[in-house]
Amino acid sequence: MSLSRRKMLALVGGGAILAAGGTLGHTVTRQPRTASLPWKQAGGYDDPRKRALSWALLAPNPHNRQPWMADLSDAGIVALHVDRNRLLPHTDPYNRQITIGLGCFLELLRMAAAEDGQRVDITLFPQGSDPAMLDQRPVARIVFTEDVGVVRDPLFAQVLGRRSNKEPFDTTRAVDVAAIPRIAAAATNGTRFGGTVDASEVAAWRALTREALRIEVETPHTFQESVDLFRIGRYEVDANPDGIDFTGPMFETLRLTGLFTRAAAMDPDSMAHRSGLDAVFANTDTAMGHLWLVTERNTRIDQIATGSDWLRVNLAATAEGLGFQPLSQALQEFPEMAQPYAEVHERLAPEGGTVQMLARIGYGPQVAPSPRWPLETRIVDV
Ligand SMILES: Cc1cc2nc3c(=O)[nH]c(=O)nc-3n(C[C@H](O)[C@H](O)[C@H](O)COP(=O)(O)O)c2cc1C
Repeated sequence: MSLSRRKMLALVGGGAILAAGGTLGHTVTRQPRTASLPWKQAGGYDDPRKRALSWALLAPNPHNRQPWMADLSDAGIVALHVDRNRLLPHTDPYNRQITIGLGCFLELLRMAAAEDGQRVDITLFPQGSDPAMLDQRPVARIVFTEDVGVVRDPLFAQVLGRRSNKEPFDTTRAVDVAAIPRIAAAATNGTRFGGTVDASEVAAWRALTREALRIEVETPHTFQESVDLFRIGRYEVDANPDGIDFTGPMFETLRLTGLFTRAAAMDPDSMAHRSGLDAVFANTDTAMGHLWLVTERNTRIDQIATGSDWLRVNLAATAEGLGFQPLSQALQEFPEMAQPYAEVHERLAPEGGTVQMLARIGYGPQVAPSPRWPLETRIVDV
């Protein structure tokens, strides 16, 4: 999550902060120590199931909740469950987005297994599912079989470079329209892909995604859900390598000076709140193109397929050198979001269907990999 240095300095008084930064230079420039280790440990396990899982946990997922739990008690099989303590009931009341994240996880698991000469046979929701909520029944039963003939996927080469880029994009660099059909080709699991770099369409999406963000932030119960997941500074990020992470010299300084706290973020009159809103608007307002996925129906199986295609689209955008950030607010199913939700569906699914994902693309700065819980913490006996 970004809060541009310039804006934050302007807001809190550049001189004082720079002085504090100078004194505390060593402290504030330290990065989290352990939070990104799983990006280095991927593939480094003896059991093929763990090898594949250690890649899969690098999948994109809503608010970086990492709601996956793998039961390895049957040899050669992974039973994937959702961790119900990691849902987002306010912004994702039917667990639609959480399910999409699990679809991203399964697709990455399949790709990693293939790299390793393993075929996976995945049975989704083998004991059924509830459209209103994910329950304790398994999300998938995954059988691993050694198979030298299994087809490897060229998109796998992009896995370690894939990011959700939460920084403003460069508005002087247009996205080549020819990139859109190349990215579209990655969506092979039956969802309907769409995308635009047309200036007037992009302007309309910028406005709509900005308004949806404003609603989410100004609706106390939905914003509280995000603020509860703020990890402010490297200590909090290492202690809980998930949620919405704020690290780097600026945030370490703001933490040390007490200017950026969860309580301040919730107070609409505080500078932390107002500058946070400015920072997220700087993202919506610098979109240089938009991509989306639509499904005809909205079953759990459709949501998993959306996740598979979304991961593939994210990897294909990475191969194009593009920055990529999902902007999900307008697709969320809480009552206060009804208007933007209706507008998105009028535009992208006028004859019915569910707009499952929407993202902005453009050229952004390089960003660090996001935190992950180590594999060992995601393996359970259910
Ligand atoms: C279903 C879904 C919805 C998401 N919605 C948003 C969003 O609205 N805004 C955003 O910045 N990132 C969104 N993301 C991206 C996640 O925040 C991101 O995947 C997570 O923080 C991990 O970071 P990484 O993708 O860089 O590994 C979404 C991801 C998924 C799978």
